[in-house]
Amino acid sequence: MERLQKVIAEKGYCSRRKAEELIAAGKVEVNGKIVTEMGYKVSFDDDILVEGNQLSDKEEKVYFLLNKPRGVVTTVHDEKSRKTVVDLIPTTSRIYPVGRLDYDTTGILILTNDGELTELLTHPKNNIEKTYVAKVNGFLTSENINKLKNGVVIDGKKTNKAKVKVKKYDKKTNTSLVELVIHEGKNHQVKKMFEAIGLKVLKLRREKIAFLTLTGLKSGEVRELTIHEVKKLYSLGSK
Ligand code: URA
Repeated sequence: MERLQKVIAEKGYCSRRKAEELIAAGKVEVNGKIVTEMGYKVSFDDDILVEGNQLSDKEEKVYFLLNKPRGVVTTVHDEKSRKTVVDLIPTTSRIYPVGRLDYDTTGILILTNDGELTELLTHPKNNIEKTYVAKVNGFLTSENINKLKNGVVIDGKKTNKAKVKVKKYDKKTNTSLVELVIHEGKNHQVKKMFEAIGLKVLKLRREKIAFLTLTGLKSGEVRELTIHEVKKLYSLGSK
């Protein structure tokens, strides 16, 4: 929930001060009722009319980068009322996540209201690289590494070529830390790829989407993408 004048300004209708004037002048309606109370709280589901104009018609494009913590669902609404990634974003715009990370997966996630960019980033033909680091039980033989690199069968289909780098093997716990770079985004893809070679993913973090990294973002933190980054993402679609 956000203050009405903030929402009006954020949607690009006018400045916050001007919005306050319009509210005081009785020119703003929320869900069919005139609201003159300053600081009235609204959500993005509310129907807001300013001087007779539907506010959502003027929605600006917004782009956020989140370092998703564990225990948060990658959806807009959760039927079980669990915390969603959208709850972590300080905006009243109607945003949604681009692709998904599992409940127990952490790391980089883009959220936006830009359908065109979402299509570009998720369409397999654009080969957008996603870099994951997985902690798995056991040791990766060179045969297994090659299998992951050349494609394994998950859900009856072979995965595309991937880059694989074993960063560490811990003999004591018999676990490996593996960097995996893939271009696809099938459901539970990384977990299923390791499952296909007989290993279980114990922890999973997405570290990069194309050139975007988590630099400067602690777990649960969020920042807006710069115009330059948005343009650079768009340029990946024409390659
Ligand atoms: N692959 C998975 O298995 N889980 C994720 O969250 C992302 C990719």
